[in-house]
Amino acid sequence: MATIWEEIVDSLNAIHGSHPGLRAAHARGTVCTGSFTATREAAALSTAAHLSGDAVPVTVRFSNASGNPRTSDADPIAGRGMSVKFELPRGESTDIVCVPLKVFMVRTAADFLAFTRARAPDPETGQPDPEKLGAFVAEHPETVAAIEASLPQIAPTTSYATSDYNGLHAFALVDAAGERHWGRYSWVPEGGVEFLTSEQVAAADEDYLQAEIVERIARGPVRFSLKFTLAAEGDPLDDPTAFWEGNRELVTLGTLEVTEISGDPDDASLITDPVNLTEGIEPSDDEILEARSRAYSVSIERRMR
Ligand code: HEM
Repeated sequence: MATIWEEIVDSLNAIHGSHPGLRAAHARGTVCTGSFTATREAAALSTAAHLSGDAVPVTVRFSNASGNPRTSDADPIAGRGMSVKFELPRGESTDIVCVPLKVFMVRTAADFLAFTRARAPDPETGQPDPEKLGAFVAEHPETVAAIEASLPQIAPTTSYATSDYNGLHAFALVDAAGERHWGRYSWVPEGGVEFLTSEQVAAADEDYLQAEIVERIARGPVRFSLKFTLAAEGDPLDDPTAFWEGNRELVTLGTLEVTEISGDPDDASLITDPVNLTEGIEPSDDEILEARSRAYSVSIERRMR
């Protein structure tokens, strides 16, 4: 019998198709390299090696969220992704894997499966069944709120380098005294977020994001600031659908400089996982975190065959 993680990947394939050798989600992207340098504030919050202040090498993959590699870069609702692998001493690594959503659409693995199945095309009509989707969202107000807040965020940007990307889950940065500082990550682009106009969307090449990032990096480094929104008293730490509303303390953890396109521009051997952590960083009990790690393992095992 299939596990729920296999069923989740099967249901992603039912929406996006099954594409041998490619990721079941975020199938198309561009892999780059660069470095990350942490601030003093980061070193005070966590003992993690990449937050010490010494520059560490990174691999960054910008992607389109669709599991179909032929989905246009200018698709208005497909969304993007940014995964960052920090290379640490002794062959270790740690990852931060983000999207431009404000909050996630569901809070359990079972809900992710039900939501994905409700969006899958009916084999007879080739279209999703609006009744199934309607029935799901009627019972999940958090999904409606997440979609409403996120649709403007995932609209096509002028570049992968002019989008922001959020971690959505809470993680604890653990300092030298063992104290935990809970918060959520965001990557903020140096020059701000810039969306395409509707005329530009209509005129955009279907792979404009891949071509643009290559040209941009040839002109000079692309920079992002890593921010950490500290949780306020009472913020749920295990619920990625929860909006953390009102004022929160925002710490700048460091600067990422993307300087080169990788030798293999969409390196299939790159594996990132939101729970690939290191000493000085701890996960929350968010069920979606574990669901991701397990579903990614299924996708990785299938695409590496
Ligand atoms: C239960 C919820 C989720 C499921 C089942 C899921 C599923 C997947 C799968 C199967 C892959 C392909 C993995 C691979 O073959 O390497 C993937 C990639 C990715 N996911 Fe998710 N995902 C979920 C939630 C999220 C969330 C909350 C975020 C961001 C906060 C996210 C960001 C990404 C990114 C950026 C990639 C591309 C990674 C890369 O560049 O290699 N996903 N996801």
